[in-house]
Amino acid sequence: MQVRVKIRRFNPEQDAQAHWREYTLTAEPSDRVLDLLHQVKWYRDGTLTFRRSCAHGICGSDAMTINGRNRLACKALVKDLKQPITIEPMRGFPVVKDMVVDMTGFWEKYRSVKPYLISAEPLPAKERLQSPCERERYDDTTKCILCGACTTSCPSFWANAQYLGPAAIVQAHRFLFDSRDRGAKERLDVLNASSGVWRCRTIFNCTDACPKGIRVTQAIGQVKQWLAKVRLSRRKSVSKTVLSDS
Ligand code: SF4
Ligand code: F3S
Ligand code: FES
Repeated sequence: MQVRVKIRRFNPEQDAQAHWREYTLTAEPSDRVLDLLHQVKWYRDGTLTFRRSCAHGICGSDAMTINGRNRLACKALVKDLKQPITIEPMRGFPVVKDMVVDMTGFWEKYRSVKPYLISAEPLPAKERLQSPCERERYDDTTKCILCGACTTSCPSFWANAQYLGPAAIVQAHRFLFDSRDRGAKERLDVLNASSGVWRCRTIFNCTDACPKGIRVTQAIGQVKQWLAKVRLSRRKSVSKTVLSDS
């Protein structure tokens, strides 16, 4: 079949601003958008620039906006998309070239939530045990591949780039709800800051965009509930202290 593709191009060495280029390609209905991009790069214009690695929805490197919605190019099939298929870089990150965006801020926010197990408890002889029920609490958020599709589809992030964003909160959730982790206090300040979870307005774009089907908004809601409980218990302990002092 013939497929019309419109790609938003930007080369900082040549272009004052981004512009659309249209290509008509021959493809199979079962081809992926990544195959279309390869066809353009390999046979039409070698300067077309995009990230990709695994080609199987695992590495998260080829998230982009396809027909107005954030998706992985390696998971979006030609037969499921209206033509012309539009391909653009994800919104909200500075564009480096064509589909490649600068994700420096994204990774800084990711690191800020300390996305690793924190525990000062002595190492057990064999392993840190966890029941299936405890594992289930954060199972969904372990699926995150850090593609950035959620954060760059969030209007709260578009309005304020300081917002931590759903991807970083999903990572925080993965460890906060892990029964073996003791790092809650260390993550508290960044999650509770003015740029933290409270900037989420429950818009759900993040959940719609997630290529791994993670219930992102639900995870953010659980982090909010956890923070609200911490705030409440802090207030109670302050009022107890005030009462005992008076
Ligand atoms: Fe990508 Fe989903 Fe992880 Fe967001 S939560 S970074 S959309 S995998
Ligand atoms: Fe944004 Fe998702 Fe919240 S789209 S406002 S992070 S529910
Ligand atoms: Fe790895 Fe698409 S290339 S997720």
